[in-house]
Formats: sequence, C-alpha cells, structure tokens
Amino acid sequence: MPWDLIQLNNGTSIPSIAFGTWTLGGGQQATNHVDQAISVGFSHIDTAQAYRNEAEAGVAIHESGLSREEIYITTKYSGVDGLDIDTSIQNSLKNLGVEYVDLYLIHNPRLAVPDIPTAWARMEKVQTDGYAKSIGVSNFNVPQLETLLASAKIKPVANQAGLAPRSCPKRGFADQIIQILFHPYVLESQAPIVEYGNENGIVSEAYSVLVPLTRQPGGPVDAPVREIASRLKVQPEQVLLAWAKAKGVVVVTSSTKKERLEGYLAAGDLELTDDDIAAIDAAGVIGTRRITARTFLRRAAAVALVGAAVLGACSYLGINVI
Ligand SMILES: NC(=O)c1ccc[n+]([C@@H]2O[C@H](COP(=O)([O-])OP(=O)(O)OC[C@H]3O[C@@H](n4cnc5c(N)ncnc54)[C@H](OP(=O)(O)O)[C@@H]3O)[C@@H](O)[C@H]2O)c1
Repeated sequence: MPWDLIQLNNGTSIPSIAFGTWTLGGGQQATNHVDQAISVGFSHIDTAQAYRNEAEAGVAIHESGLSREEIYITTKYSGVDGLDIDTSIQNSLKNLGVEYVDLYLIHNPRLAVPDIPTAWARMEKVQTDGYAKSIGVSNFNVPQLETLLASAKIKPVANQAGLAPRSCPKRGFADQIIQILFHPYVLESQAPIVEYGNENGIVSEAYSVLVPLTRQPGGPVDAPVREIASRLKVQPEQVLLAWAKAKGVVVVTSSTKKERLEGYLAAGDLELTDDDIAAIDAAGVIGTRRITARTFLRRAAAVALVGAAVLGACSYLGINVI
C-alpha cells in the first residue's frame, strides 16, 4: 500500500491521498473523472458544496460498486445559498446519495458564524448525530485553531497507532482534521499550522501541492524537483507529492489524466532523501522571498504612481502641498 491509512481516534482511518473534484465542473464529465480516479485506485474523494458537483461524485461512487466502507468521502460546508450547517449537511448527503460522510469540514473560517465556537458546536452535532464520522476545518490559521480547541468538546486523546513515522503527532492522537494550502512556496507560512496540528492531535491535509508546476512554474523549486525526478526516473509532480507525504500531511490532489493519476498513486512509494527534501524546502523559501519582494515592489510602484498623480493634480490646481 503506497499511501498509508492514518488511524483516527474514532476508530476510522483516512486514506492519505485524496482525489479532489474542485476543477472538474459538473455533468457527465465530472462523473467520468471521479469514476476514472476510483478505477485507478483512489479511495478518498474530496468534494465540497461550493464545487457544485457533489451529485456527480455521488453517481460515480455508486457506479463504482464499492461498498460504503470501501470509499472515504469528504465534503465541506461552504455556506452555499446562505444555508446553515444543519441544512447544508442534509443537502450534501442527498446530493452524494449517502447516509453519512466520512469527513465534514468548514470550508473557510469566514463561514464559522456567528463565531468559531458556535459553528464548531454545530459541527460536533453533525458528528454526534451520525451524519459525519469525523469533522474538521479548512484554511484556519493557528489562532483560529486555538479558538476552536478552547471550546471543542471533542478533544484529542493520546494514541499514535497507525501513523507514518514523519506524520506522528508529537503529543496526542489525531482526531481532528485541517485542510490547508501547502506547497513549497508557502512552506514558511503553513508549516507552523502543520506543527500546531501535530502537537494537538489534528491531521493536516494539503491541497494545491503542485502549484510550482501549475500556477508558479519557472521558480526556484523547478531545479531540485527536476533533478530529483530525473535521478529517480519519475515525473516532477510525483516528486512534489512525495515531498508533501514526507511532511506528514494527507495529500488532496487531482488530475483529468489516467496516467497522471497512476503516477500520483505510485508516488507513495518514492523515497526522497533528507537532502532532497531540504533542497526543495530551501528553494521554496527562496521563491517565497522573491514573491514577497515582487509584491512589495509592485505595491511600492503603485503607491509612487498614485503619489505622482496626486502631486500632478495639486500642481495643476495650484495647490501647494509641500
Ligand atoms: N479546502 C480548500 O479551500 C481547497 C482549495 C483548493 C483545492 N482543494 C481541494 O484540493 C484538490 C486539488 O487541488 P488542486 O487542483 O489545486 O491540486 P494540485 O494537486 O496542486 O493540482 C492538480 C492539477 O495539477 C495538474 N498537473 C499535474 N501534473 C502537472 C504537470 N506536470 N504540469 C502541469 N500541470 C500538472 C493537473 O492537471 P491535469 O488534469 O492536466 O492532469 C491538475 O489539474 C481540489 O480538487 C479540491 O478537492 C481544497
């Protein structure tokens, strides 16, 4: 089994790679892509109210012929149509055609209304009512997680069985889950969230791990990823997924292509060395600095332009501002 199952406190286990439906659109093509992912071996489907294709994912899951226990379904409360958590989970279950989901997440902290403790209490009720085996959050930062844990009734307890060596929480046992943006260019800002999770019994899920290939190609991460891929005779996307796995996070990825999906699963067997991981980390940090510097320069240029325009207008109107 290339990607481990991570045991959770409630007796369930979560497959450590998921196929996400965010970019699949709707209709038959979405169903076909989920169907393809399941047929190559994905057993964890990550969807959300906001993706508007829960029903399509549900059809593929039913058509797969897998029993309910053989497939792990995550969906998210996205606040669609202004509906509350209680109504939304019922709609999601109806869309997916199941009686429970394995994991239900608050998609974004801005949806935790009127406040995090109140929203989390609603999530706990979803779990105790049996509509979700596990509950969690997405895109929360450390202070928001602290607020959540301070009021949470469902507390992490100690037990580390089943976790891969690098994913062992230092204390406690994972029974909550957070899904976050995680790739080398955001490592510096996101690693503290993973670390906080490890210390407090929260499994981290990483989405958009392939950003250095998809949305920010040409950056410093390309060189080490290319070098490692060529040495191991694999594809760059497999190296990035193996990097994320080495960080101890559950990977949530996607592809419309069968060969890539097979490669993603095979990446679970890749053994990166500590030097490989350090090289990607270091390149990620350089990239972050470049992106920060570029953003600063762009903002500074914008401020300078506005300043020049204001001075020009004042001088035209005969207003002495100096
Ligand atoms: N909780 C949240 O707020 C949140 C936010 C974003 C995403 N997510 C979840 O995470 C899932 C994955 O997100 P993501 O799509 O951003 O993940 P990703 O794993 O970073 O990217 C997947 C994409 O990478 C492309 N790809 C793979 N290898 C490539 C290569 N060598 N060169 C160029 N492109 C390559 C694939 O395209 P092909 O189809 O062409 O193979 C696919 O579209 C989503 O579906 C969703 O379930 C959650």
